[in-house]
Amino acid sequence: EKGLYPHYMLKEIDEQPLVIRKVISKYQDSEGSIRIDAGLRNRLNEADRIYIMACGTSYHAGLVGKQLLEKIAGIPVETHIASEFLYNRPILSSKPFFIFISQSGETADSRGVLVTIKQLQYPTLTITNVPGSTLSREADYTLLTYAGPEIAVASTKAYTAQIAVLAILAFDVMRERERAPHVNPFHELSIAANAMEIMINKKEMMEEIVWQYLNASRNCFFIGRGVDYYVSLEGALKLKEISYIQAEGFAGGELKHGTIALIEEGTPAIAILTQAHVRANMRSNVQEIKARGAHVCTISMEGLEESEDHMVLPVVHELLTPLVSVIPLQLIAYYAAKYRGCDIDKPRNLAKSVTVE
Ligand code: BG6
Repeated sequence: EKGLYPHYMLKEIDEQPLVIRKVISKYQDSEGSIRIDAGLRNRLNEADRIYIMACGTSYHAGLVGKQLLEKIAGIPVETHIASEFLYNRPILSSKPFFIFISQSGETADSRGVLVTIKQLQYPTLTITNVPGSTLSREADYTLLTYAGPEIAVASTKAYTAQIAVLAILAFDVMRERERAPHVNPFHELSIAANAMEIMINKKEMMEEIVWQYLNASRNCFFIGRGVDYYVSLEGALKLKEISYIQAEGFAGGELKHGTIALIEEGTPAIAILTQAHVRANMRSNVQEIKARGAHVCTISMEGLEESEDHMVLPVVHELLTPLVSVIPLQLIAYYAAKYRGCDIDKPRNLAKSVTVE
């Protein structure tokens, strides 16, 4: 039930810190170690490459998952749009491991890949919010995201829960490979949950940003580098899905290779800047579009901020920043849709779970 909330989407955005804490409690054993099936751990440790399959928002979580698994666990990862992989399969490595990410566990495009991969007898894992769903039943292993029912068509808490589970998995595999971690994933996730709560309590600020930047516009750009780029894609998708504002996410460095042609006086752009190693590059990308007239709203992280930034996120582990930076973007999409009088929980032409190819 949505209770006092005007929309399920807002309720689900608000639930995110709690969901992350729930994920922590489900995956942490009494000794503080990671609780993951030993068989799954072994199969992952044998793999020479991980292939992540998903659609929509789950695909965006999969892109973040690639960074988590490569940078933390040290395993090469490819993230694919399921419907593309199905009919244009790349050359596979000799010991592949397949991860399916799906909120509903019912998406036909993802299932199409799972059926094929099972015929090839490669090991499979489904990360899903729905126990007993088709993708969960048909894969060798399942990790649940424990986000609770997600009613709004635009996915919010399922996305952050998927990222949290992928992070735990990455840290688990790293531990097995003895990459000398001094990081406690549960501690890092709970710092992120606290930071998420801080952002959720800044709703008025987000409403103000929407009023200032998106009130009269028909389009919007999102830019970032590394995981911030992947969050930009998700921010743009959220805005498109529910407010019908044409939005696009771009890699900060790619703008000058074409897209910058679309920037005119007053074009709104949202820049995300949480990655220290590309801070200077991102700052110059912001300058490039400002110089062409873009109306830029910058969301940065503490320690990387500049005085004119519009929102500063609390510091979290550098690969867990998507958990926090996505929140202002979800809220921006929400308020933009609200101002436009859109049907927030049931956007036109969209279904929560798509069971046809
Ligand atoms: C789309 C939904 O059709 O499917 C999106 O509208 C969702 O919100 C996507 O992200 C993938 O769904 P799932 O259940 O496989 O994560």
